[in-house]
Amino acid sequence: MTSLLHVVGARPNFMKVAPVLRAASALPGTRQWLVHTGQHYDAAMSDSFFADLELPEPEVNLGVGSASHAVQTGRIMIEFEPVLDRLKPDWVVVYGDVNSTVACALVASKKRVKVAHVEAGLRSRDREMPEEINRILTDQLADLCLTPSRDGDANLAEEGIAPERIRFVGNVMVDTLLHLRGRARELRAPETYGVSGKHYAFVTLHRPSNVDQRETLAELLKALDDLASQMPVVFPIHPRTRQRIQEFGLNDLARRVTLLEPLGYLEALSLVEKASLVLTDSGGLQEETTVLGVPCLTARANTERPVTVSEGTNRLVASTRSAINAAVADVLSRLGNGSFRPGRPEGWDGRAGERVAAALVEPAALPAAGARR
Ligand code: UD1
Repeated sequence: MTSLLHVVGARPNFMKVAPVLRAASALPGTRQWLVHTGQHYDAAMSDSFFADLELPEPEVNLGVGSASHAVQTGRIMIEFEPVLDRLKPDWVVVYGDVNSTVACALVASKKRVKVAHVEAGLRSRDREMPEEINRILTDQLADLCLTPSRDGDANLAEEGIAPERIRFVGNVMVDTLLHLRGRARELRAPETYGVSGKHYAFVTLHRPSNVDQRETLAELLKALDDLASQMPVVFPIHPRTRQRIQEFGLNDLARRVTLLEPLGYLEALSLVEKASLVLTDSGGLQEETTVLGVPCLTARANTERPVTVSEGTNRLVASTRSAINAAVADVLSRLGNGSFRPGRPEGWDGRAGERVAAALVEPAALPAAGARR
């Protein structure tokens, strides 16, 4: 019997845990619990994902909510410790790079419970991003680093992580996308939002580096306004970004853009699949657009997902009006001449969840908790 305690907290975790839960439940002798930290709590940021992804009710919701990084991370640790003491799993499985990931990895590691990190090894090399700090620390703590792409293996080796702690499994987000693509199509979200059969852009922006400074956010909104003169722009908006637009008095700049509440997974996928282009600062969308073959402009100086640039449809663009306008013009001309020929990175095949589950229930092949070089 192998018991797994999966930790999720924020929106991008939910689509990563779903295929692992499904694959592990198909293996005999596996016991599983899902713990939600409550880092995200709005229905549109959490509940709707549980419904779309058919996730089970969590065993417990720690209800930590929003706060500064220190307070949020500390609260998660304090609330998670008694849950770990009660459930005593063989493995704590953490996902991605959010504050819930590093908080629970630290608690488990100090209690000598084995930690597996799904989506290990990604590096932007930009410590201005809180996620980069979460990634580095979680990988150092994890007994098993499960990587989505080969660059992850190389990054971990460079940081001194022993080869037996690294396992390439591929991309679990892609499992979810391929699993739910048919259901997403049935939703016909482009019809709902009046963009069916048209060229349109799909936009998401929520990173502090893009939305927390008035000047940067204004530049981005001006670029969206320019884009809106060429095609409809559909922008489901993260609560943080909505707050900032209001706080900075920038509502007018967004008047030609279709601002929506955050969308559920299926509705978003339905819209992204048919979009002519995506402009984003999300991690997940860089991957999803690569698999869907939709051109993606990422408004960031760097990416922890370089295979989406080298093999997929992604391109980095500065968060300025002129840079975005130039990149949009280039994408549209390439679309016109059919020069987008995206590839699919290794292991992005819909079976990554199975490989994660197999890695976790083959203890003989794995190091003991805390084993180091
Ligand atoms: C978190 C992740 C980020 C991920 C993003 C996806 C960290 C450090 N960051 O950022 O990597 O890309 O989730 O959405 O963990 N809020 C609500 N309702 C909610 C959740 C948040 O209104 O359900 C608002 C609150 O004002 C909150 C702000 O959003 O203060 C930020 O939330 P937080 O969880 O701190 O980080 P995100 O920006 O969502």
